[in-house]
Amino acid sequence: MPAIQITQRRSGGIILFKRFKCIMRRLYLSIMSHNVYNKQGRFMSLGSVSSFDSLEFRNALGTFATGVCVVTANPEGYEPFGMTVNSFASVSLDPALVLWSLQNNSECFSVFEKADKFAVNILASDQIDLSNLYAQKNNHVLAPKHFRIGKSGLPVVRGVVTSFECNVWARYPGGDHVILVGEVTEMENNSNKEPLLFNAGQYRELR
Ligand SMILES: Cc1cc2nc3c(=O)[nH]c(=O)nc-3n(C[C@H](O)[C@H](O)[C@H](O)COP(=O)(O)O)c2cc1C
Repeated sequence: MPAIQITQRRSGGIILFKRFKCIMRRLYLSIMSHNVYNKQGRFMSLGSVSSFDSLEFRNALGTFATGVCVVTANPEGYEPFGMTVNSFASVSLDPALVLWSLQNNSECFSVFEKADKFAVNILASDQIDLSNLYAQKNNHVLAPKHFRIGKSGLPVVRGVVTSFECNVWARYPGGDHVILVGEVTEMENNSNKEPLLFNAGQYRELR
């Protein structure tokens, strides 16, 4: 009985320590990006100089047509998980770099914080269901039928147009998001597939 209590106290201490580390990291990111937490624990800008509100900005950004990706990872101690994003962009050919950005207040933040690798999976036009599924709040554990393990040990989504397996190359604070840059170590492309597109808040297809 006492041994169990000690173990419980120790694991409680580890959880507290991890939580403390997470808070300190978010604080660091917020200071670096000129943001602070408000009373609700959400980020707000310290000095906005914009002449428009965030909804107008969001709608304007939505006019830029993008593809849709599910970014996946499986850091030690976590089940393979994924999250839908459209902030993916190419960065550099040599070295081979890509980026995407993650909301600071995402449920996935702490998991990606621990990941030293991630895979970017570019969804095909017949994968709207997958996009919606992994965009749901608190629903990021990958169903076994949706992925296989890629060459670098990362979960790779089945049926995608292209997958990039990456080592985390850098993390940069970016306002209410963190920018993750990955160095591509493996990639696979299925040229028979057409990509899923996203524009003005709606899914689209190539015409
Ligand atoms: C098409 C689409 C693109 C998205 N792109 C991003 C993105 O680039 N970065 C991000 O953090 N969240 C993005 N999201 C939101 C997440 O997928 C997800 O909805 C949100 O993170 C859910 O909250 P949670 O992370 O707290 O569970 C996108 C959602 C959709 C549907």
